[in-house]
Amino acid sequence: MRELAGIVLDTPTPATPRLRGHACVRVDERGTIEDVVDLPGDPPSGAPLIIPGLIDAHLHLPQYPVVARRESSLLPWLERHVFPTEKKFTRSARGPDDLQQEIGSFLDDLAANGITWAIAFGAIWEDTTDLAFDLARRRGQRLALGKVMMDEGSYGTAQPIEARNRSLDETRRLAAKWHGAADGLLEYVASPRFAVTCSMELMRGAAEIAREFGCRIQSHLSENHDEIELVRGRFPDASDYVDVYDKAGLLGAGTLLGHGIHLSRREMERLAETGTTVVHCPTSNFFLNSGICPIDQLRAAGVPLALASDIAGGPEMNPFQVMRSAIEGQKARRFADPSIPEWTPGEAFHLATAGAAQTLGRGGKLGIIDPACEADLVLIDPTALSPSLALSPHTARELQAEDWLSLLVYRATPAAIQATMVRGAWTKAPA
Ligand code: GUN
Ligand code: ZN
Repeated sequence: MRELAGIVLDTPTPATPRLRGHACVRVDERGTIEDVVDLPGDPPSGAPLIIPGLIDAHLHLPQYPVVARRESSLLPWLERHVFPTEKKFTRSARGPDDLQQEIGSFLDDLAANGITWAIAFGAIWEDTTDLAFDLARRRGQRLALGKVMMDEGSYGTAQPIEARNRSLDETRRLAAKWHGAADGLLEYVASPRFAVTCSMELMRGAAEIAREFGCRIQSHLSENHDEIELVRGRFPDASDYVDVYDKAGLLGAGTLLGHGIHLSRREMERLAETGTTVVHCPTSNFFLNSGICPIDQLRAAGVPLALASDIAGGPEMNPFQVMRSAIEGQKARRFADPSIPEWTPGEAFHLATAGAAQTLGRGGKLGIIDPACEADLVLIDPTALSPSLALSPHTARELQAEDWLSLLVYRATPAAIQATMVRGAWTKAPA
């Protein structure tokens, strides 16, 4: 039994942030929250702010070396920075120690940023995807990961048919080895990159593997106008981009599609109908000049949403910066049309915690701090959020839930994160 005392904050719904001013979260041996008990009086000075673990639903493990590489737009950025880097993310190109260190520092950074569940793409290589799973297992991290699948325009050297067969074989092997491993902390994700670099046969094969193993699917959708044009040219029989994935059998409740910026009403409705998730990547959408995703329209259409850094499309992992960017994207849309709803810090925080958990089928188990939930928790040093809290601990007493959420979204960095816990075990231990 572990007892964590402090100020407890979560957002069961976007509109109902919940603050327990002084409480103790009791976690049992299996890593489940047993109860949350209110404590008398004010928390002592130095008490942490305890929040649910943060969920980053779309990022790329091998792309860390090319964060913040400025480029005009998606396709030249992929060609000049991403593909050459991913191509070398394998043992035959780099020593095993080097790769182990790079993957280790990526996993460390997840914990340092309070991310307790990452849903990530690897490179096309089986060896480094396998290594990443193994390192995540040893560290007790919650990771959903898949080797990226491509058979056309790939940085691999195999010809299309061989590339396709190899990609499907390796995906099947990795899914058999890792899907559901570490008592469910690890998940395999079938990961066809996007319709620009995948044949219909490869995408259908990915969908089949996902059905066979009961695993999720992840890909990219409608991020950039040049990308959309290429997809139109490659799949003339499809009515639009969503229809390409529909024809491949890729849509459904277990599917996460990054970006989804430039969608028609029909496409939004089809995503909603099939329960397919759009993962909002606001920092990436700004960085790569892709556009501002109309998340209010997606939400109104009933499309399930999650939030993500999209490393390295997004230049940093910090989930609070991603939340802020989601809010600022909505603000920018509102400047052009005041009827567009503004997003609150509570809404953005909810999308990275309880909202994402719900979208991903783990509602009531992750993303909130309640009895019977898994203890995925983050401890924040309140004094690192604001100098006034450091100077006068009494100020904390006057803060409402909305104030804490706003302080987090606008002020939190890894420097404020004292510790991160996944299923009751530290992935970043307190100092
Ligand atoms: N579309 C296809 N691959 C990628 C990628 O690696 N990053 C982003 N942002 N978009 C993509
Ligand atoms: Zn991506």
